[in-house]
Amino acid sequence: MCAWHGLIRSKGVPLMLVVAALTAGCGGGGSGSNTPPITPQAAPPAFSVSAGTYTTLQSVAITDSTAGAAIYYTTDGTTPTTSSAAYSAPIPLAATTTIEALAVVSGYTNSSIASATYTINFPASPAIAPIADIHQGFIYQIVTDRFFDGDTTNDNPSESPGLYAPNGFANPANADWNLYWGGDLAGIQQKLSYLQSMGVAGIWISPPMNNIRVNAGASNGETAYHGYWTRDWMQIDEHFGDDTNSWAAFDNLVTAAHADGIRVYVDYPANDSNPIGAGENGSLYNNGTLVTTYSTDTGATPYYHHNPNISNYGDRYQVQYYTLESLADLDQTNPWVDSYLKTAVTNLLAHGVDGFRFDAVMETNWGWEYSLENTIANWNGTSNPARMPGQPFIFGEWEEGSGDALYPDSVKFSNNSGMNLLDYTLYWQLADVFGTDGSFYNIDNELTLEDAGSSTIPAQAFMQPNDLVTFFDNHDNPRILSQGADRMAVKQAISFLLTCRGVPVLYYGDEQYIYNDTDSGAVPYNRNGMTNFTSNDATLLIQYLAALRSANPAVAYGTMTQRWINNDVYIYERQLGMNVVLVAINKNPSTDQAISGLYTYLPPGSYTDYLAQTMGGLRIVVTGTAGSNNPATDFTLPHRSVSIWVSDGYVPPSIGSVTPRIANPGVAVTLSGAGFGTMAGTVNFNVGSTTLPAIVTNWSNGQITAVVPVLAAGAAMVTVTQGTATSNAAPFTVSSSKLIPVNFSVSGTPVLASTDVIMLTGNVAELGNGAITWNSAIGPVTIPTTGSGLQTVSAPAGATVQFQFFVLHGNGSITSEGGHHSYTVPSTGVGTAAVIWEY
Ligand code: NOJ
Repeated sequence: MCAWHGLIRSKGVPLMLVVAALTAGCGGGGSGSNTPPITPQAAPPAFSVSAGTYTTLQSVAITDSTAGAAIYYTTDGTTPTTSSAAYSAPIPLAATTTIEALAVVSGYTNSSIASATYTINFPASPAIAPIADIHQGFIYQIVTDRFFDGDTTNDNPSESPGLYAPNGFANPANADWNLYWGGDLAGIQQKLSYLQSMGVAGIWISPPMNNIRVNAGASNGETAYHGYWTRDWMQIDEHFGDDTNSWAAFDNLVTAAHADGIRVYVDYPANDSNPIGAGENGSLYNNGTLVTTYSTDTGATPYYHHNPNISNYGDRYQVQYYTLESLADLDQTNPWVDSYLKTAVTNLLAHGVDGFRFDAVMETNWGWEYSLENTIANWNGTSNPARMPGQPFIFGEWEEGSGDALYPDSVKFSNNSGMNLLDYTLYWQLADVFGTDGSFYNIDNELTLEDAGSSTIPAQAFMQPNDLVTFFDNHDNPRILSQGADRMAVKQAISFLLTCRGVPVLYYGDEQYIYNDTDSGAVPYNRNGMTNFTSNDATLLIQYLAALRSANPAVAYGTMTQRWINNDVYIYERQLGMNVVLVAINKNPSTDQAISGLYTYLPPGSYTDYLAQTMGGLRIVVTGTAGSNNPATDFTLPHRSVSIWVSDGYVPPSIGSVTPRIANPGVAVTLSGAGFGTMAGTVNFNVGSTTLPAIVTNWSNGQITAVVPVLAAGAAMVTVTQGTATSNAAPFTVSSSKLIPVNFSVSGTPVLASTDVIMLTGNVAELGNGAITWNSAIGPVTIPTTGSGLQTVSAPAGATVQFQFFVLHGNGSITSEGGHHSYTVPSTGVGTAAVIWEY
């Protein structure tokens, strides 16, 4: 065809050629002319943003004036060809980049190359202040095997040869993702400065303890690279440390991390050991000595439960006493197992760990876990290397949503045991909103349910929402990049996570945008090899947010209030005293949102975006009088943006967190918060009508260590007084003493209607102090078989207790036993109190 228009419009084609083309190429061609037709040239592509220097993110669209042009481009300095990336959508620029583009049109010669260099100079982030407490920072979750190979001598150790994929990090597409890839504790140590530069305040490392040494075969996955197939809790695995299973690499890491201000949290599986019928068949060792395997566990007091796999996750007995994923299910109330698991925990404390992520706490014996928390609280040994300041922070995995049957049990368990939980129920909503573009209402409703409670389910709210451990990605679910998120969505998720209430956990590699979509990104393809440790727009964002958390106590300890919401826009506020952080996210891909009717605690004034527009944010103006409800002048929130507006100011003494939340008299607890002052004031504990001052062993403006005074056990309140100002009353529970797990069981119970549950109550705080409500009595107890009940309760060592089972009917009425039972709790070990229902 004769492309007349193209010829005329074609830039850069000499007029002579145009004329020649007109002569030669059109009008049917002259017979007798030997001049070949001249092909017109496509116009070079044009960029929507001029080349130059910018201090904010840019998004560059490429167009071409030649009709039908296909555009190919590069960003790596190579000359584009038709094999280069085909342009389809604006290119986000988060770092200095040269874009080179080529237009290709059928019937035309290719365009000349258009080129533009964009220099992105983000403003440096504010400094990250030293912090006293993990709430003021964030935790970085590491699958040790996939992070960095710092010691190649342990890649294929002689104790367990052949489990190593040498090409894992370098060539994941051709590697076996179920083998070890070589990452180790030394590797984490070598990358601490990378973590420190982002403001990481703590690392949660996958279980470092000694794992099974053989391949567990296809039906059970393959190797224990993930760390969850423990065989010996007293040793460090040869892949992560050294071939003598010593603690050297672990201690070196803890020492170096602490020197960099980074706490170490160890993932600790107490529910199970390793696969049944494969691998080492549930082998259990005590510092190198074989104790049992699953099939040789035939003694009178078995180490393991020998039940089927859990099939009903709504059944309290199944989840605690059945088998999780074919993993040999430890009986924590076997006295040897009880002592072993607690010795191993305190051994880790002696090696300087700052806390634990407890694996599968829903599937472990709930009542026993109270005594695990109590053991940690009462441990007062010496740590070498030394622990970071503050009592150990513990959090457990209860992998359910708020719609699941045992959600009320999870709230009760966390509140009454002192075990903080990973905020799995919020996680599902974060993955939905940031991974698959769900509605912000889902997050907002979830926060309301967890933090304020519900009248429709028999659960209270979580007592300390700021102690919940929040995350949007982890090692058990596809990364949001595999669920549909792009890089901007990841950065919005990071922005939310690090400003939401709770202690945030960032999954390793999200800041480098790593993901693999094989099998939709499910395990093991979410356990990617970390190959990049460079700074980029995401690490810069994290620095900004870490600096904010460290500087403004409203983020660590404040309230969280929704201020404006629709499906795509979420504006919420953190507030503590005069510290206010207002966050606005618009995740809509193309629609700016007019915001009117926004009220804030921010005092009147003009607020620039704390993120310096690196996320496309803007300035706002607040009017009114400095109260809690000042109007923001109407503004338009840009699409795909995050803005943060901050005000710092006076904070009265404010307790944000008490660690542990439950302890007996004599135990040292850490009060974290703000405004305590630098001179020691007073800490008071109150139970009922008794208020007693605590002995204070350490006092700083943000952290106090105080010893629980001798008070009756029960619900308590803690306050800090500095001068004339007294803090909020933080909830705390005084327990009676050291706690011993006791298996309370009953047989011959009444026949239960479908809405009936069996509960337990007794005359000590740990048995509910005689309470007969769902929330305050013990239970619902598990039902091993019809007509029986079994409930482990961690009860005061040596105490003689009176107890009684009762049926709690769906309407709240009760049918109790005809009398009560008496039992003396042993002073060590594990107790058993078996009774027949007394009619
Ligand atoms: C939960 C862990 O997060 C998961 O990765 C592991 O496979 C199971 N617990 C069993 O230990």
